[in-house]
Amino acid sequence: MAELSVKHLLGIKYLNESDIQLIFETADHFKEVINRSIKKVPSLRDITIANIFFENSTRTKLSFELAEKRLSADVINFSAGQSSVKKGETLIDTVNNILSMKVDMVVMRHPNPGAGIFLSKYVNASIVNAGDGAHEHPTQALLDSYSIREKLGSVPGKNVVIVGDILHSRVALSNIFALKLQGANVKVCGPKTLLPKHIESLGVEVETDLRKALNWCDVANMLRIQNERLDISYFPTTREYTQQFGVSKKLLDSLDKEIVIMHPGPINRGVEITSDVADSKQSIILNQVENGVAIRMAVIYLLASKIK
Ligand code: CP
Repeated sequence: MAELSVKHLLGIKYLNESDIQLIFETADHFKEVINRSIKKVPSLRDITIANIFFENSTRTKLSFELAEKRLSADVINFSAGQSSVKKGETLIDTVNNILSMKVDMVVMRHPNPGAGIFLSKYVNASIVNAGDGAHEHPTQALLDSYSIREKLGSVPGKNVVIVGDILHSRVALSNIFALKLQGANVKVCGPKTLLPKHIESLGVEVETDLRKALNWCDVANMLRIQNERLDISYFPTTREYTQQFGVSKKLLDSLDKEIVIMHPGPINRGVEITSDVADSKQSIILNQVENGVAIRMAVIYLLASKIK
């Protein structure tokens, strides 16, 4: 059986192109499973997974939990806000206590970049990064590319623009790694203050004119401003940001071609995209969420096969 080149999913940076294709092919199978009347398979009956979230989440947390349950794994959930982390327990102590209850895999979201990488060096379980600060969000990038593949037939050669707060976005970095690995062309677009210096070294182009970027692309992945990570003001006002970098239906309809609109969520309606864009037929935002379950089933299944 084909297997992943990694024991953990810490970031797209650590995957190769074959890993991505294997995850997609496995997700194709699971997507069919979750659309059947019986949506569950017994594959991981002997595996226990802990979802430990030190940061808020709606989509990722629910999607991982559903993916694990669809695979028949035993699942425990941990939210830092209601835990003994509040009493001063360290990350390693917390996780080792969870692991002593015979847990095989840890899915972790953490506000600190590199938290999963750190943990993987100290604990004996498979670690899945569910978002680590402004660093990486690998399953989001996988489900994004999978959704492009589903909508447009393939990813290689497609033009994708990522719009918004690139500087503070783990979704942007993981998407850049994933898209470049598959041979897509990538541009980033946003206020200069929200574009990392030397971003071109990742093989992407910078475009600060939104209309030009949209007329170039097949797909626009719209990001929200990561207000929780902004220590200073990076643009004058939200209204001015929206005027320059927000996508309205009027702008979408005035483009030379019909493009696909994506968003990882949560959306700030009326800021980066208007409601009529989010809900338009060009938007695949809810398809991304649906695909997230199949992608996470694939990732967990493939990593679990390396534990046994
Ligand atoms: N896309 C994403 O990570 O959303 P959540 O923060 O709700 O998990």
